[in-house]
Amino acid sequence: KAHFAEPGGDKGLTRCLVLHAGANLAVGDIEIHTVDNALAREKSRRYVEDTEQLIIEFQEPIDPGRLHHISLTYSYPLAEAMRGFYRSNYKDSQGREHMLASTQMEAADARRAFPCFDQPDMKANFDMTIRVTRDARDVDNGDDNFQVLFNTPLKDGGYSRRSLQGGAILDEYVFEVTPTMSTYLMAWVIGDLVAQTSYVDGGRVKVSVWGTPEHANDLSDALESCVKILPAYEKLFGIAFPLKKLDLVAIPSFEAGAMENWGLITYRESSLLVSAEDASDGDVMWATTTVAHELAHMWFGNLVTMEWWNDLFLNEGFAEYIQYIGTSVAKPQYGADKLFPILTLQNALVADSFSASHPLHVPYEETLSGIEIDGLFDTITYDKGASVIRMLRSYMSQGQSIESDHLLSVDPFVTGLRSYLSEYKYENAKSAEFWSAMAKNSPPVDGVDLIESMRQWISRPNYPLVSLAWKPGTDLSALTLSQVPFLRTGTHTETCSDADPDSKWWIPFTYITKEGQGGSEEGVRSGILDTCAGAEISIASREDYVMVNPGQSGFYRVNYPQEMWARLGAGVKSGELSSVDTSMLLDDAYALVEAGELEVGTLLDLALAGSQRTVAATGLSSANLTSDYQAWYDVAYVFNSLVAKLEGSGSGSSCHDAMETFVGERVSAAIADYGLVASLGRTGGRQIEGSFQHRLLMGSLFSLGVRYGDAGVSNLAQQSFANGVAVHPNLRYSVFKATAKSGNTGYGQVLTKYAQAIDADEKEKLMLALGAVDTEPLIQRALALVMTPAIESMDVRAFVARVAGASELGRAMAWTFLQENFEPLYAKVNGGTDVQSSRLAGL
Ligand code: BES
Ligand code: ZN
Repeated sequence: KAHFAEPGGDKGLTRCLVLHAGANLAVGDIEIHTVDNALAREKSRRYVEDTEQLIIEFQEPIDPGRLHHISLTYSYPLAEAMRGFYRSNYKDSQGREHMLASTQMEAADARRAFPCFDQPDMKANFDMTIRVTRDARDVDNGDDNFQVLFNTPLKDGGYSRRSLQGGAILDEYVFEVTPTMSTYLMAWVIGDLVAQTSYVDGGRVKVSVWGTPEHANDLSDALESCVKILPAYEKLFGIAFPLKKLDLVAIPSFEAGAMENWGLITYRESSLLVSAEDASDGDVMWATTTVAHELAHMWFGNLVTMEWWNDLFLNEGFAEYIQYIGTSVAKPQYGADKLFPILTLQNALVADSFSASHPLHVPYEETLSGIEIDGLFDTITYDKGASVIRMLRSYMSQGQSIESDHLLSVDPFVTGLRSYLSEYKYENAKSAEFWSAMAKNSPPVDGVDLIESMRQWISRPNYPLVSLAWKPGTDLSALTLSQVPFLRTGTHTETCSDADPDSKWWIPFTYITKEGQGGSEEGVRSGILDTCAGAEISIASREDYVMVNPGQSGFYRVNYPQEMWARLGAGVKSGELSSVDTSMLLDDAYALVEAGELEVGTLLDLALAGSQRTVAATGLSSANLTSDYQAWYDVAYVFNSLVAKLEGSGSGSSCHDAMETFVGERVSAAIADYGLVASLGRTGGRQIEGSFQHRLLMGSLFSLGVRYGDAGVSNLAQQSFANGVAVHPNLRYSVFKATAKSGNTGYGQVLTKYAQAIDADEKEKLMLALGAVDTEPLIQRALALVMTPAIESMDVRAFVARVAGASELGRAMAWTFLQENFEPLYAKVNGGTDVQSSRLAGL
């Protein structure tokens, strides 16, 4: 179907056709004819650079009400641009050069690959044929791994080969027509690839994981995840995956982490491949997560698509929420839902505390250009989106636990999702339509109007700070709750007024008290705060504590009266409060201190309490599914941030040194408490025992030990690099970083190892370690790498960000470097084409 514009004078007819086409395309002759072969010939054309649209005027009038065929030719050189149809150049371990060609269309780059109506709401069925000419000598060498993949499988008999003159051959691949879908989901991949394959549901869907030939052994982990997650989603959403095959492909040069093209999901190598020797627990979890995330898009995004990019959270927020369900299915031993607060929600709370944040549903006028659309793939859309969805589910399924394995239970939230998906499948939806589908199909909870209630969460930026205060005259046995919009600069500029709906949120809150809790989920009570002040909580005795938002299921921060913080600190120290709750309290307290809402001493007391949780007190043994990983995640965050802030007070400042010593003592005490050095020592650091989360925790403590100079840990780190011992992958980044920071010799050693690395995870660790230096000469050396081929185009942002994040000096030097090298840097991250400047925003 063609998209016509500007009626050409004749009644109901037009003379103009408007197509998206990237500036890189050289478009040849264009013809248009109706099914009965009435031809319209081109009269003139105009290119609109701003909107990347080609306007063609025809000599004959065209009836927009009829079906037309447009034929045109176009060409462009295949660049290493990582957008549109592009090439990856890569080297194998022998140093031989190879080339692979693939695509990345989202958000608005399908137009760079072919002229089209490049908008998510203009869905079509794509009928694709790919012809490739090759040198016959490359084909005859016997171990030909050459593949051509598209969204859909080949048609029966769709492959044919012809010999051309001069020793060339021409292969033709005719693919099955795609389901009705948006242009941003199209994909094809051409190059040498090997696969591992498996089947879902007795052969209904053929699933393959692909990589370049040297990665043949790294494909099985993702494949196993995929064949577990796909049928689980089919069951949960009540809609079968509509294609006969699903390919997951690791691409050597890839800008994002992964892309959900329907039937042909593409990945950065480090997001898909899992090597038994080199992948850390975090790397394996990331591979599982990206598989779970992109598979979620097969429903949220591909089957039902947001009408326009301003509702991108319907794609990305959902995929981010559902990825935790998929990860729990594939790897129940991760306890993934217990990681949601630290990996997703707490990031969103930081990002959404800026006054320059944006609402989940963005005003349409602010999302018209490619730059604006690219900018929407951010922490708000992903992490706030997922957090608000999770909060809604936890509210809607009150009384029906959704913890761990119950994430797959069919609660009112899932009932709503199912009907939303089946109502809008193969079509587009706006966020308003999502909310009404949910409200219509899920039983009302306490008669609440869901659409009204969720409005502020969706349509305005930021989130509330809920403050508890003793209720006067109640002998300290009751507290009142009030809310005010929270900003990182403090709440003094913000007010809540019951007359102004935009100044307050509908907050479904939960809480536990010491008396009522008894360590079980049954102790969780709930209420609604939908006025500026009002809700009340009573506690049983003067010694009782109350903690709001257990499990951090809600998207808000909480402040308490001074003595309540102290009681909570005691619960943190004793291990009575969980690892997740400890991390939440620390994260809130830190943000409140930054905003000037809480004394820094309260935060330090709490961080100290967090660091003093002992193995014995928490009852979290290394065999447990969960561990104290979350608690330490935020203990480390608070400690590191405070030390870094004091760094700014001038080098050698006594405050900074005292703080660093204090933190170092706490870190060494925890390392001793966990027996880390002794247990690592038994295998020379090669093995880490215990549950998944415990192994993550050991990695964190090791990293803290290196950072704060714990003698045992530092010794182990030095020994292992000096002796070329491959320590456990969870420890390697810390070892590489310590070596790179140690001076010119160490830096050179890491650089050599980086140049030789073939495994993507290993390479990434070495690359980031090269950026994490903090002395002037080494920062200089790191920045000098950016413009050399050593730092690949796809890694420039992460590398410069690592330099800037490692120290105050690094931040200043990275900023100067960015200004002085703006032009060449711009060219490098662009891959030399005309892509938008938004890529630099990441720097
Ligand atoms: N749709 C995105 C990929 C994308 C991002 C395309 C930005 C265009 C612009 C994909 O589903 C995605 O979100 N990928 C994430 C990984 C995921 C596990 C959070 C990514 O690339 O980081
Ligand atoms: Zn996504």
